[in-house]
Amino acid sequence: MRILVFNGSPKKEKSDTMCITRAFLEGMKAAGGQEVKVLHAVEQNVQPCRGCFACMHNGGRCVQEDDMRGILEEILQSDLLIFSYPLYCYGMPAPLKAVIDRILPLSRMTMEKVGDRYEHVGQADYSHLRYIMICGCGFPNSRQNFEPAVAQFKLLFPSDHTIITVPESPMFNVPSAEVVTVPRLELVQKAGRQYAETGAIDQELLAAVCAPMIPEAQYAAIVNGEA
Ligand SMILES: Cc1cc2nc3c(=O)[nH]c(=O)nc-3n(C[C@H](O)[C@H](O)[C@H](O)COP(=O)(O)O)c2cc1C
Repeated sequence: MRILVFNGSPKKEKSDTMCITRAFLEGMKAAGGQEVKVLHAVEQNVQPCRGCFACMHNGGRCVQEDDMRGILEEILQSDLLIFSYPLYCYGMPAPLKAVIDRILPLSRMTMEKVGDRYEHVGQADYSHLRYIMICGCGFPNSRQNFEPAVAQFKLLFPSDHTIITVPESPMFNVPSAEVVTVPRLELVQKAGRQYAETGAIDQELLAAVCAPMIPEAQYAAIVNGEA
């Protein structure tokens, strides 16, 4: 299986969220061999989409000649796309959003009704692709926080998606928090293995992975220097 990881954190390897993603990949690896490539969005020369729609009319070729051309090739050669990113203003960081916008050449202008909404028809059949979102955030609460990013991801990739959201994620890079982060990363590994073996994560395990690691009020007190 070829896995392409988009790391949307500008902190690159130091990303809190990438701690979760690496544990997930380790779990997947335990279930069998995969080829994994990580692209740090912030390092790519991907200019913002110009909104000209030329790509949708000319067979999927963008007028801009930058790193996105190669990234689109990488996407087409992958089986699984993992989007690993911190929540920024209830969405994804700008360098990753630029990459997402520039995926437009994979679609044609033709739109079709699917269920109760319209989607653009693909330039090719992408049904082999699966999608995972792994998103960390700095607040302790998931509700009233992750919803916009989750809704966006589901609309972008309506089929074969798996979504992991983890609050309190700065703790993954705090050595004194290992008493709670190490067991959490073990659960994430288990989820990765289960995903590789079955194509899904059971609801109970997913809920445990996505729960706060310490009570919300305790986390806020630590951040506020009150504990
Ligand atoms: C510009 C900016 C916006 C942020 N917006 C949110 C937010 O909407 N909700 C939240 O819980 N945390 C927010 N955070 C906190 C990050 O999600 C948090 O620090 C995360 O652990 C960073 O992950 P990373 O190390 O993978 O980049 C924001 C951080 C920055 C720098």
